[in-house]
Amino acid sequence: MCGIVGAVSERDVQGILLEGLRRLEYRGYDSAGMAVIGGDHSVQRAREVGKVAALGDAMKANPLAGHLGIAHTRWATHGEPSQINAHPHMSGERLAIVHNGIIENYQELREELRADGFEFTSQTDTEVVAHLIEKNYRALCNLHDSVRAAIARLRGAYALAVVHADEPNHMVVCREGSPLVIGVGIGENFIASDQLALLPVTDRFMFLEEGDIADIKKDGITILDREGQSVEREVTRFEHGADSADKGEYRHFMLKEIYEQPKVIKATMEGRVTKTRVLEQALGTEAANLLENVRHVQIIACGTSYHAGMVARYWIEELAGVACSVEVASEFRYRKHVIQQDTLFLCISQSGETADTLAALRQAKKAGFRAALAICNVPGSSLVRESDLVIMTQAGPEIGVASTKAFTTQLTALLIFTLALARHNGLPEEQEAEIIEALHLVPGQVSDVLALDGEIAEMSKAFMDKNHSLFLGRGSQFPVALEGALKLKEISYIHAEAYPAGELKHGPLALVDSEMPVVTVAPNNDLVEKLKSNLEEVRARGGELFVFADRKADVKAEDGIHVMQIPSVHPITAPIVYTVPLQLLSYHVAVLKGTDVDQPRNLAKSVTVE
Ligand code: G6P
Repeated sequence: MCGIVGAVSERDVQGILLEGLRRLEYRGYDSAGMAVIGGDHSVQRAREVGKVAALGDAMKANPLAGHLGIAHTRWATHGEPSQINAHPHMSGERLAIVHNGIIENYQELREELRADGFEFTSQTDTEVVAHLIEKNYRALCNLHDSVRAAIARLRGAYALAVVHADEPNHMVVCREGSPLVIGVGIGENFIASDQLALLPVTDRFMFLEEGDIADIKKDGITILDREGQSVEREVTRFEHGADSADKGEYRHFMLKEIYEQPKVIKATMEGRVTKTRVLEQALGTEAANLLENVRHVQIIACGTSYHAGMVARYWIEELAGVACSVEVASEFRYRKHVIQQDTLFLCISQSGETADTLAALRQAKKAGFRAALAICNVPGSSLVRESDLVIMTQAGPEIGVASTKAFTTQLTALLIFTLALARHNGLPEEQEAEIIEALHLVPGQVSDVLALDGEIAEMSKAFMDKNHSLFLGRGSQFPVALEGALKLKEISYIHAEAYPAGELKHGPLALVDSEMPVVTVAPNNDLVEKLKSNLEEVRARGGELFVFADRKADVKAEDGIHVMQIPSVHPITAPIVYTVPLQLLSYHVAVLKGTDVDQPRNLAKSVTVE
């Protein structure tokens, strides 16, 4: 997590860096800071606790002028959010550094540097790196070489940007395990954790490879790889509209992103399906080869993406008849596995930079899986670059920390993938056609659900003063319930738990009373009758039920049962559509509670640390 931005230009860089930080705030927002090398070749630094706006306010009174600068927005890992722990960190008066990632061996390096006479002012692992580079600089008098020598001693993950007042015309940047992109300008160049930060100044980007170290000057970029060989990295153009980091008419990014879903679901289908069939070639020239003979799928993901994987398991086993396991990446990476023959490894990630997911992928590549497929939303991300086959979701940049459109586009991509796999496993053409036809209806059905926004806002009032809630679903709607509960806890801070409805009687029923609202998703599938019995179990204990139900499911509004009718949907595509009212519900509860919807406390969008 944490966001890094840097610039070297003819013009003053403060404005560019502040705007970059504002756009990176989704990565962390407990403090922010900037260091600029001024005309007098000294380092000027500003750091503030809290959001980027606080830094902006402080800098209005005391602007930093200069043509070379680095900046950072922090998500605390080592040491509390405080001005002293905020980046940039300095060693002496002349070297400043910003860092994203975690240095695992920082304690031992700290002791060593202390013994060398370096004084530490913060609790961060980053300050160790600053002193280590400065120590090398005293011997080598060259920033690039000093950075290279320093990183040879680091264990962990990092993206670094370093400036030194003795070399006022360039910055040195490097990456290992954390994202870093170079923005290519005309007579000016930039770096950032995410291309989004730099869209106001460029749309041309170079992605560093692991182990690369780059020197960034205003009129040139040189990159050396891990071995110190000079390398070229391809320049790519940013594909999405430059306004994606703007809220437009919406009060929050999250609401904007919820409303974008009909469009982005459609975009994720485009070019990949006809009216009745999946175009397997559109999944990549290697797709047919890789999918043939897949006997097992192992899905790995974190957070919301994990819930998408859980939905996909129902689809893959039902439609393709292929065994499927799903596990969160942070668990997968630390246990022994029995890998069945011909297992496809499938990572799902919005950002493509989640540290646990990447670590799992890297292990899997050594472990003998058939191939690695990624479902991802960020072109050029580490996950995309390291996978054998990639299906890009077309959600566009997602800024709200709570994931919405990324999830529904992941589901769309996963269903298309499932159908391609199912075709290799004997799914009849008519059934493929039936599901693709149903998928074509989803954007419209999501729009119909969005039209219920006002009613859902009204419903949300019942949650405002509650401390706990329960979400129920059965079958492929159980992960939808999990996702609904995750959304509510993330942004409204109400404790929300999700259960498969059939499991209610084995524990959570003990919690049910009038203070515990119970939310249920009830499409008209073959489990609806069983679900209705579960609802009666809740009602009999005085629980208040909020049911999102298919008109045909015939769930009646009665005392203690609030029913919101959802358009009739095919049971296979129902998880995509039924997610949307739960997103809206959480959103409105959070708005009523006055929480920070787009940047909820303690969370960050892209978790690039372990
Ligand atoms: C963080 C975000 C979640 C996201 C998860 C996985 O926790 O707050 O919204 O689902 O990371 O991220 P990924 O980018 O891998 O999908």
